[in-house]
Parts: sequence; C-alpha cells; structure tokens
Amino acid sequence: MQQKGAQVAFRHTGLVYNRDGQAVRACADVDFTVPAGCSAAVIGPSGCGKSSLLLMAAGLLEPTDGEVLVNGRPLTGPRRETAFIPQDLGLFPWKTVLQNAMAGLRFHGMPKAAAAQRAREALESVGLEGFERAYPKDLSGGMRQRLALARGLAIDADLLLMDEPLSAIDALLREDLQDMLLDFWRRSARTQVLVTHSIEEAVYLGQVIVVFSDRPATVACCLDNPRVGTPDWRDSDGFAAQCRAVREALARAVDR
Ligand SMILES: Nc1ncnc2c1ncn2[C@@H]1O[C@H](COP(=O)(O)OP(=O)(O)OP(=O)(O)O)[C@@H](O)[C@H]1O
Ligand SMILES: [Mg+2]
Repeated sequence: MQQKGAQVAFRHTGLVYNRDGQAVRACADVDFTVPAGCSAAVIGPSGCGKSSLLLMAAGLLEPTDGEVLVNGRPLTGPRRETAFIPQDLGLFPWKTVLQNAMAGLRFHGMPKAAAAQRAREALESVGLEGFERAYPKDLSGGMRQRLALARGLAIDADLLLMDEPLSAIDALLREDLQDMLLDFWRRSARTQVLVTHSIEEAVYLGQVIVVFSDRPATVACCLDNPRVGTPDWRDSDGFAAQCRAVREALARAVDR
C-alpha cells in the first residue's frame, strides 16, 4: 500500500569529513524542512556538498553537527521506507538488470514472483524493457541511470531521494523521464528530494527549490515554485521567469 509522504527536516546540520587527517567541511548549518508530500529540488555548485546532504538524509552518513529529522524523529540510520538513488547509482554488477530492479523489493521481503512483476513494470516505465537479462556493464551510462531510477521507483517508499538521476540522459528522453517522475509523484503521496544541476529540471519538478552556496553547502535561499504540475508549465512564460530567478539566485549564492 502506498505510504503517506514523510517530512524531512535539517536542523543546523553540518558535516565535516576527515581526509587524511585534514578536516573537509562539506555542509554547514543547513536548516530547512521538506514538508510531507512535497517535491523539493536542490541545486548548487559542483562540489558544494549536495550529495553529502542526501547521504545524511538517507541515514548513511551521520551529521557532525545538528541533526536530520524524519517525521520529527532524529535519524539513526537508513530507513526501510526511504528510496535512495545515489549519484554513483549503487548497482550490483553481478546481478542482471531485472535482479537489480528487484533488489529493493526483495530486501523488503516481497516474494520473488511479485517483485519480478513490479520490477518489470518499473523497467518499462523507464524504457528498459527487453534488457532484463543484461548486466549493468552492458548498458550505457544513461541506461544505468534509468535502471537505478527503476529500482528506486519500484519500492513503496514514503521518501524518494535522488542524486542527479537524469544527468547522463539525452535532452528529449530526459524530459519524458521528468514527466514520468512528475506523474509518479502526483499519483503518490510521497515526498521527494531531487538534486540536480539543471535549472530547468529544478523548476519543472521542485515545488520548493533550495539553492546552495559554495562549499561548505549552506542554504542560500529557498524559492517557492507552486506551479509545478500545472498544465503546460514547461512552455509558459512563468516557467522562463522562474528559471531566470533560480539562475540569479545561484549566481548570487556563488558570488558571481
Ligand atoms: N568520503 C569523503 N571523504 C572526504 N571528503 C569528501 C568525501 N565525500 C565528499 N567529500 C568532499 O566533500 C565536498 C562535497 O562533496 P559532495 O560530493 O557532497 O558535493 P556535491 O555538491 O554533491 O558535488 P557534485 O555536484 O559535483 O556532485 C567535496 O569537497 C568533496 O571533495
Ligand atoms: Mg554530488
């Protein structure tokens, strides 16, 4: 059964890595909330700390300052109800495409036949039908991204965290997959957080657009983008204006 969306809150969240004895501050005093059922987009300069933030939201990295709350409770590790599509995709090279797409469902205890059925549907939704028996090494970079997306979408999650899931996909297919993600989000009650470098993608999919500064990542501003999902949004004047607003916010955030 589809779960209700989860609320995610970053409270003065910071992260310092230790690289060969040297402190590398990736995130500093990140403070924002993604309401339950909201679709948020996160955008910011390369290397600022976006992936680090998502890893903390996935419960895979512990903040060194502050905390991450899901539904008001501090995260203490990964949650079963969170689907996470990492930037490096996290595919299993020894498993076939179908087995990879089934992996999350099997982990959740779904019987094999039902998991295979659901995984096939997810693969079809990203245009990978016919590749079920292939291995990740046999796929292009964009196809591998679509496989990771299918694996994430197959799970009945209340929170979907995506780290640049469409970055290697050609422009037209990317728009189709953005529509698929939009449709998927509108049909479910789930919360989603999308990290992207594409201003258009952020404006197309993010009801809230969180703009990060240079490293260490901190919230430079949050832009409301309430027309997400309204008819012809991508082709509207409002869309173009909103893209300009995000571009300007991004330029201010990195002081250019
Ligand atoms: N495991 C790690 N150990 C040490 N430093 C790390 C580690 N992972 C990331 N960093 C550093 O933390 C900073 C933020 O990295 P992160 O991957 O979060 O950035 P990003 O915003 O996702 O970048 P991109 O847009 O290029 O994906 C970078 O300076 C990076 O070198
Ligand atoms: Mg990243």
